Amino acid sequence: MSRPSEAMKAEFDTVASWTADAVEELGPDYALPAACRGSGSPAVLAWLCEALQLDTGTTLLDSGAGVGGPAAFAEQRYGARPVLTDPMPAAVTASRRLFGLPAVVCDSRQLPFPSEGFDAAWALGVLCTVAEKQLLLAELRRVLVPSGRLGLLVLVRTTDSLGDKPEGNTFPSYEELRHLLDSTDFQVLEEVDASDFPDPPVAWQAHADRVEAVIAARHGGDTAWGAADRQSAALGRLLRSGQLRTVLMHAVRT
Ligand SMILES: C[S@@+](CC[C@H](N)C(=O)[O-])C[C@H]1O[C@@H](n2cnc3c(N)ncnc32)[C@H](O)[C@@H]1O
Repeated sequence: MSRPSEAMKAEFDTVASWTADAVEELGPDYALPAACRGSGSPAVLAWLCEALQLDTGTTLLDSGAGVGGPAAFAEQRYGARPVLTDPMPAAVTASRRLFGLPAVVCDSRQLPFPSEGFDAAWALGVLCTVAEKQLLLAELRRVLVPSGRLGLLVLVRTTDSLGDKPEGNTFPSYEELRHLLDSTDFQVLEEVDASDFPDPPVAWQAHADRVEAVIAARHGGDTAWGAADRQSAALGRLLRSGQLRTVLMHAVRT
């Protein structure tokens, strides 16, 4: 199985722990905006929570939870009971520090959970970071109850010849994504483009920016900061030029 590159470790592991440090210094209001790395806006997260009908007590597996913002959003605003997983140990520690949610270090291609234990699962910004996408989706299917709900946020490529890519990412085309879901026995019920949603509210964005600024001030000279910054700059260019678009999907286990 493919292993994360150094740039991915910087982006998803080292920066996760710097994020938790900065939030602890600035205060708890900063936690959610700073910890939604990839999925971003409250409007997007609310759509996913509503589509998956998350409610008090719904068990939710967050695959590739990162620093844990989306799972904490689902817990705080919808009463869901999330379990977080991520292969990066510092990300898992950061999510525990910021939100106190159950979090496990593991690779979602091989989940340490029994079959049919979760009502819902989501993977937000994760499929693009994994080469073996089919393995990951098959594992998510295995741990979902029959008719369990799956949420995805996926960056899909709109062209065959992408420009300068962030290291370690493989972006599926829309057709490849639909084929992957068919072949792992998921039925797509609805999908939307993230560009249809409003930008994050000003206060949310300001909090996220403040945390970024604290991290940059403290670690701007570190090699890991430079590597993580190059990763997000490359991603930003691909999104702005329209070579990537962000798709949200709600599917069910068939
Ligand atoms: C763009 S971040 C998104 C984090 C979080 N889902 C969010 O939306 O804020 C991608 C995450 O996928 C995780 N990841 C990478 N490979 C993975 C794998 N094989 N299984 C599970 N998660 C993985 C990374 O460690 C990282 O935390």
